[in-house]
Amino acid sequence: MTEPGTPFDQLGGESAVRALVDRFYDLMDLELAYADLRALHPAALDGSRDKLFWYLCGWLGGPNHYIERFGHPMLRARHLPYAIGNAERDQWMACMTQALRECGVDAGLAQGLRNAFQGTADWMRNRAG
Ligand code: HEM
Repeated sequence: MTEPGTPFDQLGGESAVRALVDRFYDLMDLELAYADLRALHPAALDGSRDKLFWYLCGWLGGPNHYIERFGHPMLRARHLPYAIGNAERDQWMACMTQALRECGVDAGLAQGLRNAFQGTADWMRNRAG
């Protein structure tokens, strides 16, 4: 039996991470439910797409594209310019949950990823409410 790979491998490597990130930002543009989250982002999402893709590759146990380009992520510090409370966190999680589902990610893997995302998203909050 082969060892189970990293979450990066289980998801399907770079092309699958890219597809997940692209669906996540497409949904942010399309769905009214994520309008507040969308409003925090720049008008053009190309830079946001690339950064989240590079970051998630490493975060999932794949290549460290983000760190190679930008050094330590300091993710919480990089989010301080944006007011993030419970509502913003919940929209981020709902948008990612929908993207995972629509990309057909295996239910068990998706559940594990949601748990891990939830911890990071909680930690990103920088204001009450
Ligand atoms: C909790 C709710 C969150 C909100 C409202 C939020 C919002 C934002 C915004 C507005 C940006 C700037 C986009 C840009 O410069 O193009 C950003 C950047 C970023 N976010 Fe989030 N984010 C959240 C959670 C997360 C989570 C959970 C992750 C990772 C798992 C993440 C990863 C990133 C990365 C890697 C960047 C690029 C940072 C940089 O290099 O400037 N974010 N986020």
